[in-house]
Parts: sequence; C-alpha cells; structure tokens
Amino acid sequence: MKVPVIAPSVLAANFSRLAEAEAAIDASGAEWTHLDVMDGHFVPNLTFGPKMVSDLRPLSSSVFDVHLMVDNPGDFIALFANAGADYITFHIEAAVHAHRLIGAIRDLGKKPGISIVPSTPVSFIEELLPDLDLVLVMTVNPGFGGQALIPGCLEKAKSLARIRDERGLSFLISVDGGINAKTAEKAREAGVDVMVAGEAFFKAQDKKALVALLKGCTP
Ligand code: DX5
Ligand code: ZN
Repeated sequence: MKVPVIAPSVLAANFSRLAEAEAAIDASGAEWTHLDVMDGHFVPNLTFGPKMVSDLRPLSSSVFDVHLMVDNPGDFIALFANAGADYITFHIEAAVHAHRLIGAIRDLGKKPGISIVPSTPVSFIEELLPDLDLVLVMTVNPGFGGQALIPGCLEKAKSLARIRDERGLSFLISVDGGINAKTAEKAREAGVDVMVAGEAFFKAQDKKALVALLKGCTP
C-alpha cells in the first residue's frame, strides 16, 4: 500500500501561535501544510485570507495546500498564488467556469485542485480530471474541524483511484475531514495520496508518532 503524504490543517492550531504550529508540522515528518480558507458564505465559518498565508510562508519549507471554501473562488486565485500557495484547490460547487479557473491557477505557476463536498458525485468533475493536479474529497461537510468522517465518502476516493488508473491520469487524491488514528487505515485502503488532519494532529502529544501512525508506518 502506498504511504500517503500528511497535511496537517492549521485550522485546528491556536491562531495566536501559528509560527509554533508551522514548526511543529515541519518537525513531525508531515510534508504539507493545509490552509483552510473560509468566507462565511460558502461555509458558515470564517478563517483567514492571503496575508496569513504570506506571513506563514517564510516560516516553513512545507508544501502549502490552500483549500478555498469560498464563493467566487476566481476572485482569490491570484492573491493566494502571490501569497505563496503551492496547490490552490477550489470547490466545484462554487464555480461555474471551473475549467477557466484551473487555467488561471496554472498560468500563475501553481497546481490546481478541485474539491467535492459529501453530496457531490465524482461524475460531476470527470471532464476536468485530466487538467487537475489534485482532487480533494471532503469526508465531512466543510466548515468546521473535529467532525466525524462520513465513511461513504471514501468510496469516492476509491472510484477516483480506479478512474485515474483506467485513464492513465496523474492527479493526487486527498481526503479531508475526520482523519485520525482510527480512520486512517480505511483511507489508505481507499488508495489516497494525501491525508489532511486537523484535530488529530494538533491534539496529539507526540506528533511524530501520530504522523507515522497515519502513514501506516508504525512497527
Ligand atoms: C473542514 C476543513 C478541514 C478540517 C479538517 O471544513 O476543510 O480541513 O480542518 O479537520 P479535522 O481533521 O479536525 O476533521
Ligand atoms: Zn480543508
């Protein structure tokens, strides 16, 4: 089974101590930092904007995985690209002209991703798969950390892995929401490449051990 990349979400960190959060991510063996951007419209919660991303950027060498949970994502692509995002993922449910947005992200030298909420089927993004670097399968309804994973959503990760093989495509499959020591094995079995972990990561006393556990690398 492949060893997934771990992407701790700073949503679960103490926002007054984000520099420490980045240092903890870097020291844990997790390769990515997941940055949850919420606008209070697409989801009923608010987080932070591009300035937070650009302030964190020099503190960390990890891949910055920006997850835009916003309406009108096209208005924010350049801002987050300039702030230092590596992957920019927007929600298909918030974008009519998704193909255009993917092109805009690529033109800025960044990697485009699309996310689907639990009620959106994989078929909704099938046409776009050859143009994507990442598909982010939400395994909870977006807006809040600390929710329980919805097991049926892992079936979508499995179908994406099958479609990717059948069509010879190369996008990464990421799962986001409710990933912890108990659910990670099922996610790995589904064939995911990236696992986002918020609460599980920031509540863990031994973050290095947690990351190894999520990766399935414990003896
Ligand atoms: C939810 C966010 C997630 C969230 C995951 O809307 O997109 O990235 O931080 O948090 P946990 O791992 O606590 O479910
Ligand atoms: Zn997220």
